[in-house]
Amino acid sequence: TVGKVRFVNRLVIPSLAAGRRDEAGRRVFDLRATTGTSRFRSGGATRTWGFGGGYLGPTLRAARGETVLVNVRNDLPETTTVHWHGMRLPAAMDGGPHQPIRPGTTWSPTWKVDQPASTLWYHPHPHGETAKHVYRGLAGLFIVDDPATGRLGLPSRYGVDDVPVIVQDKNFGDGNRFDEGHPLMGGLGIMGDTILVNGTLGPYHDVTTRRVRLRLLNASNARTYRFVLSDRRTFALVGTDGGLLPAPHTTDHIQLSPGERAEIVVAFAPGEKVVLRSDPPDLGEVGSARFVGGDDAFDVLELRAADRLAPSPALPGSLAEAPRIGPPGGAGARVDRRFELSGSKLNGKKMDMSRIDFAAATNATEIWELTSLGGKPHNFHVHDTHFQTLSVAGAPPPPELRGWKDTIFLRAQQPVRVAVRFGDHADPRTPYMFHCHILYHEDQGMMGQFVVTEPGQ
Ligand code: C2O
Ligand code: CU
Repeated sequence: TVGKVRFVNRLVIPSLAAGRRDEAGRRVFDLRATTGTSRFRSGGATRTWGFGGGYLGPTLRAARGETVLVNVRNDLPETTTVHWHGMRLPAAMDGGPHQPIRPGTTWSPTWKVDQPASTLWYHPHPHGETAKHVYRGLAGLFIVDDPATGRLGLPSRYGVDDVPVIVQDKNFGDGNRFDEGHPLMGGLGIMGDTILVNGTLGPYHDVTTRRVRLRLLNASNARTYRFVLSDRRTFALVGTDGGLLPAPHTTDHIQLSPGERAEIVVAFAPGEKVVLRSDPPDLGEVGSARFVGGDDAFDVLELRAADRLAPSPALPGSLAEAPRIGPPGGAGARVDRRFELSGSKLNGKKMDMSRIDFAAATNATEIWELTSLGGKPHNFHVHDTHFQTLSVAGAPPPPELRGWKDTIFLRAQQPVRVAVRFGDHADPRTPYMFHCHILYHEDQGMMGQFVVTEPGQ
């Protein structure tokens, strides 16, 4: 259970990676994974891992159409990888378990960013070790911009009215060390009793404008949050994992399981204080599975509005084009593949790096049915692509699932149908992953691999 929070620390805003242009016109970033220490609270520093030292990493940012090159140096004592979660890119650049970065070496993936404006993130993905590497602090945001979105007038001054909110839960042990816990308890992995936002404990953010966009990322190992505002006011949900929604959706809550993102816009009156909180999430467990934990309510981030607020443009009525890629309704539609999550297996199998579960054709659209079979919830993430939700337990998807997603929560025994479209990065030998993003589950083997090939290959 998360304890009471005192908002005593200014929210740290992850720095924007400087980046530079090389002769070929590429945007080049340097990341260095290394051990370090961080001071989260009084009574001694915590040993952490981070990109560039300390905790977490800088925010990378690139525009649609740009080619990026990231030099990822590993100065950790063990092998890691860096995966670009939500990025459409060639499998060899994806940063999954097949692209290990050994200690003392540098991996330099390059790709052309070609997808809508969105809030993506990066994190390690070494085989069986992801939970530990992320928990120790290796994660960061990757923001994709595109010109069309830039013209919408959404709050977009980074760190001022466009604020990253990376939410994680931790347990602190003796001497403030990160307690990596006993993941078998409850079966979900580490469930922390202390919330960090961007690595800040007890955070507040000073609001200086009428509207603020929060880019929420659940970068926790296991915990699902149901974000609400303390006075139950509504806000506008404007984006999900893969980009902006067709139109703002007014709501008073947004639930995010590990790996999911949401962009929300909150309106403020001068001088008020509003707290971003988490309510008990709707985990949809069935039967005796209610012991998993993580069903408490707690404060996350205090938003303190100044006595005078600068004006913000009104929210536009429509945000992004949303071409439907699947058949409408989804209920009677064909199903191309089924994915069943249960125990620590996916379709009855554990992850095996030498097994390719299927090949998808470039530019194909497939209908997938995703089901959490046991009594416990899972979620499902697929690399390289985004999907549209067709139905949840046979019913039309709720508004928050009407945009592009790459990670989706699966309530027990409620099949979710999605339409997935594969890009044009064919590589018959290098796989992408699909898996539960509860990191302990993925490390336990709830993961599979697919390749994308030219039709007929
Ligand atoms: Cu966020 Cu396969 O990962
Ligand atoms: Cu799971």
